[in-house]
Amino acid sequence: MLEELIIYLLPLLWISPAYATNASPLFFSNIIKDRRALDLGKILWDGKRILGDGKTAEGTLFGLFTGLSYFTSLYYLSSSFNYNLYENFLEGPLIIMGAITGDLFGSFIKRRLGIERGEMLPIFDQTGFLIFAILFRSFAFGPLPYDIVIYLFLITFIVHVLTNLGAFKIGVKEKPF
Ligand code: CTP
Ligand code: MG
Repeated sequence: MLEELIIYLLPLLWISPAYATNASPLFFSNIIKDRRALDLGKILWDGKRILGDGKTAEGTLFGLFTGLSYFTSLYYLSSSFNYNLYENFLEGPLIIMGAITGDLFGSFIKRRLGIERGEMLPIFDQTGFLIFAILFRSFAFGPLPYDIVIYLFLITFIVHVLTNLGAFKIGVKEKPF
């Protein structure tokens, strides 16, 4: 029973730095209101913003900082239990950079599709950061077993929907998605 629980929890613990990276900018945006758009307000050939006001320099840096601090703690904590949760330290920065890139790429695609900032693009909104996090680490460390990828995809989708709904209910987020 305990062993089974651990088997299901370990992949989530492993990917959790991507969650920390993805979720933290929202909380930062609730504290610091004066932020700079990462795309500097620039508009592309289609008359739409490159990324839009939902991706800020401050939010992105805070995501990077939170993700890296969280990963570093997790990395050394797991090694202090003589457990190698990661292949080596490089895996974390790749997961984190992937998560940020996936989030920014998602906004880029949404703007090209004419979807306004804050409006929904199903699947990509919930899992784009995860897909890129897995892709980035897999360039260096080889593919993950496909059952783990599907498992992480499904759980992340559900967790993302529920946490966003929760953030909306407590007034941290303007939209429930
Ligand atoms: N945020 C930020 N910088 C980032 C990512 C997020 O400042 N790199 C903040 C913004 O205040 C953003 C909020 O976190 O509005 C929620 O993030 P997200 O849902 O990804 O952005 P959206 O506003 O929905 O914008 P988009 O439509 O481009 O996804
Ligand atoms: Mg959104």
